[in-house]
Amino acid sequence: MTNSDAAPLTPERILQFAWGYAPPLILEAAIRHPVFDVLDSGPKTIQELQKETGASERGLTAIMNVLVGLNFLAKDDRSRFSLTPESAAFLVSTKPGFQGGMIRHCSEHLVPKWLHLNEIVATGKPVEAVNEETTGSGFFEKFVNDIFPMSYPAAQKLAQHLNFNASGGTIRVLDLAAGSGVWGIALAQSNERVHVTAVDWPQVIPVTRNTVARFGLADRFSFIEGDLLEAEFGKDYTVATLGHILHSEGEERSRALLAKTFGALGSGGTIAIAEFLANADRRGPVNALLFAVNMLVNTESGNTYSFEEISTWLGEAGFQDARTVEGPGPSPLILATKA
Ligand SMILES: C[S@@+](CC[C@H](N)C(=O)[O-])C[C@H]1O[C@@H](n2cnc3c(N)ncnc32)[C@H](O)[C@@H]1O
Repeated sequence: MTNSDAAPLTPERILQFAWGYAPPLILEAAIRHPVFDVLDSGPKTIQELQKETGASERGLTAIMNVLVGLNFLAKDDRSRFSLTPESAAFLVSTKPGFQGGMIRHCSEHLVPKWLHLNEIVATGKPVEAVNEETTGSGFFEKFVNDIFPMSYPAAQKLAQHLNFNASGGTIRVLDLAAGSGVWGIALAQSNERVHVTAVDWPQVIPVTRNTVARFGLADRFSFIEGDLLEAEFGKDYTVATLGHILHSEGEERSRALLAKTFGALGSGGTIAIAEFLANADRRGPVNALLFAVNMLVNTESGNTYSFEEISTWLGEAGFQDARTVEGPGPSPLILATKA
């Protein structure tokens, strides 16, 4: 191929990124107004939607047309709007896969901090760190239920993989940085012999308790309030889950946490880690590289890590056979065994 055959160089991609903030804000406006919920009962015109949502005709027309362009809505020849399979599964607030909490979290909590990115890159320090209890527990208290749907399918996959039905006796699960309790909840649902001990900051544990009660699992859970590196976990657990915590803890505390978790597991116990994994050469995947910037913006020393880095730390802590388990979600889970 000669140079003259090459696609002409244009600024198109850069200009698309310049507008990159718009689609999530439009999705949020549609969720808040609540366009997707109303369309769940069937196709509607703008006028019908206006009646049901109370929003303006001009506003609805502008956002709904672009939602058609983005394939979150379809429009028929009679100008009636309807859901697509994707928006029906993930943007209707009554559906178990609803991702609107994450969209709201971005605009309410993340974007205001990301607006300081230039300053944060200059100093290498966040404006406010969420890895500390004083600022972090209020942030997580509001947020942990919003990310429940993100991890629930992967947590169910973990339960399936661990297959507790194959063994007898009580299965003791230590759910570290439990948040909503999503990992412990899916494991408890998979087998009635599972008992979960959930650990999180004191301000967040009431949220964990509520979610666990909503799932009818209150008698299968115990709770430990405290910082992960200070709380007394107990011993002889069968499984320990660390769902989306290493990235905010940073390398030093993560290594200490893995060593502490090793001590809390019984022999033959399994550690399961969920993270946004970067490739070892840090050339991708983009979601993990972007999340590393989110950790720069929000924490003192957080980052995203590769399977190779985490498996080295697991080996140093005494674990064997670090391996991945593919699950629904952007990255596979990492499992390792205490021999
Ligand atoms: C991103 S959320 C993940 C929650 C849940 N494991 C999941 O995967 O959805 C992180 C959780 O860790 C808790 N957390 C963060 N740092 C902590 C610390 N140093 N000690 C105790 N809990 C902490 C937060 O309160 C929050 O519930």
